[in-house]
Amino acid sequence: MASGIVTASYIIAAVLFILSLGGLSHPETARRGNAYGIAGMVIAILATVFSNQVTDYAVLIVVMLIGGTVGVQAARRVQMTEMPELVAILHSFVGLAAVLIGFATYLVGLEGFHGAERTIHEVEIYLGILIGAVTFTGSVIAFGKLRGKIDGKPVLLPGRHWLNLGIGVACIWIGSGFVGAQSTGTAVFLLVLMTLLAFAFGVHMVMAIGGADMPVVVSMLNSYSGWAAAATGFMLSNDLLIVTGALVGSSGAILSYIMCRAMNRHFLAVIAGGFGTSGGGAATSYEGEVTSVSAEETAELLREAKHVVIVPGYGMAVAQAQNTVYEITKSLREKGKEVRFAIHPVAGRMPGHMNVLLAEARVPYDIVLEMEEINDDFPATDVVLVIGANDIVNPAAQDEPGSPIAGMPVLEVWKANTTVVLKRSMASGYAGVDNPLFFRENTRMLFGDAKQSLDAVLAALHA
Ligand code: TAP
Repeated sequence: MASGIVTASYIIAAVLFILSLGGLSHPETARRGNAYGIAGMVIAILATVFSNQVTDYAVLIVVMLIGGTVGVQAARRVQMTEMPELVAILHSFVGLAAVLIGFATYLVGLEGFHGAERTIHEVEIYLGILIGAVTFTGSVIAFGKLRGKIDGKPVLLPGRHWLNLGIGVACIWIGSGFVGAQSTGTAVFLLVLMTLLAFAFGVHMVMAIGGADMPVVVSMLNSYSGWAAAATGFMLSNDLLIVTGALVGSSGAILSYIMCRAMNRHFLAVIAGGFGTSGGGAATSYEGEVTSVSAEETAELLREAKHVVIVPGYGMAVAQAQNTVYEITKSLREKGKEVRFAIHPVAGRMPGHMNVLLAEARVPYDIVLEMEEINDDFPATDVVLVIGANDIVNPAAQDEPGSPIAGMPVLEVWKANTTVVLKRSMASGYAGVDNPLFFRENTRMLFGDAKQSLDAVLAALHA
């Protein structure tokens, strides 16, 4: 294929990716956004496959078949609740690819480059491998934490800031030796040394981050994977990869900023690690009486209420209760009650998790409100249904300066007339912090799997 056609195809694909990002920013246009993304990716792959750069089609077909099969299998098998882990592991693939391409480019791709051009290429390779290696191990640890295979508690090594600084300085120093190194052997040795340090940095950085701050880490690694892809684009002189990487990198950075604002954290402080434990003190554990209710009593409370707010959390996703939630909403609205949803920015395990589930269940978008839109309305609310949410409705974030989640904005559900919390036990949420909400006078606990409890509430409402 002529290089002009390839360039034109890349421009069209880049425009489609930008349209895709625009579409994905709202549930109503998300489907269209996905279609743009798919179309852009098909054009990008076809243009690359038929470009003059590809010489060995046998290898290409084999790797595309392997990659395609793994992708299809992963997409078919993954549960909605496992999506964040899948995203984390996909980020790690991007990081590893950047590392491998960096080494390959250095070993075979630098012939013919001299002087300043060679230096620029060496810097690209060095940065690509550095970002890729941090992304790779950081994402593997994030995967382990999200899956529960690695403890969510931060691991804080003594003098960790000095350690991070030391690794940073060492990487710069090694880089200065690598660029313009006289022999290939020395250069490869320095590259391997830096890669090992960057691997260690990725592990250390994510191990030091506490449970409640994982949303920031996931979006930050998303951003890193974009920059790693952009660096790969520079190494391979592929304009589309540079543009796509920059889009992912910058949108991930914006998302990280939004997440930090939602959690009331400073970006640099989260990266430096340690939130979720030592910032204040140990989490308080609460003792006292909790008042449990039955599904019938919950239905009775709802029947008497005029204004109802539903707060979904991770437990709704686990129980797959969104369709029953919709049926209850429909039934209450038919009875003339005002029903609205309150969405915390980090509810669930990935950005927009609750919005996706509610959209899937056909809940109208206009009754789904963000935290700042609805938080002041709780005092005028008769009943709040907290469905499998915990950290995002924990008053300790406001009341206890020593709490590991102190300062994180939360939905003030305790200000409503009655709050019904649906969960299976008294267990804590993702951040591992006990929740005094359960012991409040106006809180009622409806114990059990959220789907089963809500099915019973719906049956009682219809009775
Ligand atoms: P969590 O604090 O994790 O609480 C979820 C609650 O759901 C648990 O306490 C659990 O209690 C209950 N639950 C689990 N399965 C259930 C089921 N089948 N039926 C009923 N209840 C069930 O969730 P949240 O309030 O949504 O807060 C999100 C947390 O995840 C925050 O700490 C946030 O920082 C973190 N996080 C968020 C993200 C993003 S981007 N959203 C990413 C990573 C981490 P029982 O075990 O007693 O049932």
